Amino acid sequence: MIGKYVEEGWNHLVSRGLQTVRGCETGNSVRQSRAYIDSIQVELRVIDAPLTADTSCTFFGRKFATPLMSGAMSGVDNIREHGMIVFAKGMQAAGSCMWVGIGPDQELQEICDLGIPAIKIIKPYRDTDKIFQKLEAAEKAGCIAVGMDIDFAFGSKSGDFLKANDWCSPKTSAELASFIAATKLPFIFKGVLSERDAYKAMELGAGGIVISSHSGNAIDYAVPPMKILPKIAKIADRKIPVFIDGDIKHGSDVFKALALGADGALAGRSLMAGMELDGAEGITKVVKGITEELRRNMCLTGAASIGEIDPSVLWLP
Ligand SMILES: Cc1cc2nc3c(=O)[nH]c(=O)nc-3n(C[C@H](O)[C@H](O)[C@H](O)COP(=O)(O)O)c2cc1C
Repeated sequence: MIGKYVEEGWNHLVSRGLQTVRGCETGNSVRQSRAYIDSIQVELRVIDAPLTADTSCTFFGRKFATPLMSGAMSGVDNIREHGMIVFAKGMQAAGSCMWVGIGPDQELQEICDLGIPAIKIIKPYRDTDKIFQKLEAAEKAGCIAVGMDIDFAFGSKSGDFLKANDWCSPKTSAELASFIAATKLPFIFKGVLSERDAYKAMELGAGGIVISSHSGNAIDYAVPPMKILPKIAKIADRKIPVFIDGDIKHGSDVFKALALGADGALAGRSLMAGMELDGAEGITKVVKGITEELRRNMCLTGAASIGEIDPSVLWLP
């Protein structure tokens, strides 16, 4: 079971003092998100079930072996030297996609040069010139899409408010439209956690949406991403891909996300756990392990492909 491996890696990170993501303020966002995912139940549809299932998926014109991708990662050099390159190699061996968060342009170039499809998520810098420069660098590096973690407008934790507010700021619709216009690549809105922002993203011409509470660090008592997913998927209406993140660590988590309307799921901390234990190989092991659990869930519910996953197999709370 891959869950045991992830738990072992997680405990290792904690013992080294490297795992500090516990959500902001009361930590309720993290707890409620997990509780909501766990409260969704799945029924069996085994009569005439397929012998195996195809977990491959296509978005932004690329085919992937799995809908499980990396979260928009950064700052993992404390786990392994050149951590982001190690991370990307692990994702590449699993036939997945690498989402890249804050970091130097050179690092992004090195990741793209590996040949793995990469997506760059740019911070909502106050300095908009920097945003345009980062958009250009992502295009030049060969990314398949770009985006912005719009939920980082005030930093990721309450304690960071003043600090992050120095260099990030909320973006207006007009500014977001200008970023979209400045790039040929699909522009993804990461950190959408309301129907209101989803409508705005669609109106502005978003190329994708990531439903996220930034590991529970965006706001205390955040609505669980999986809970709001069906509403946002309905707004996106399959016109653009919808992704979700937040404590994705089991095949059943990914299965539930897909059944509720997501096109893919992003994982941060569970992949870091694999990296802690076995570097790039550990990351590959976690992605493949979760994907095999997803395949099993698909077979047991009668879905031979991702498109055949039937939302009615879920029993919502
Ligand atoms: C070490 C680390 C670094 C991260 N850096 C970024 C970043 O630079 N940009 C971003 O949009 N999100 C960043 N995130 C947030 C993730 O993309 C993701 O939203 C979050 O981790 C939720 O997934 P998880 O619960 O599986 O970790 C980071 C997360 C971690 C754990």
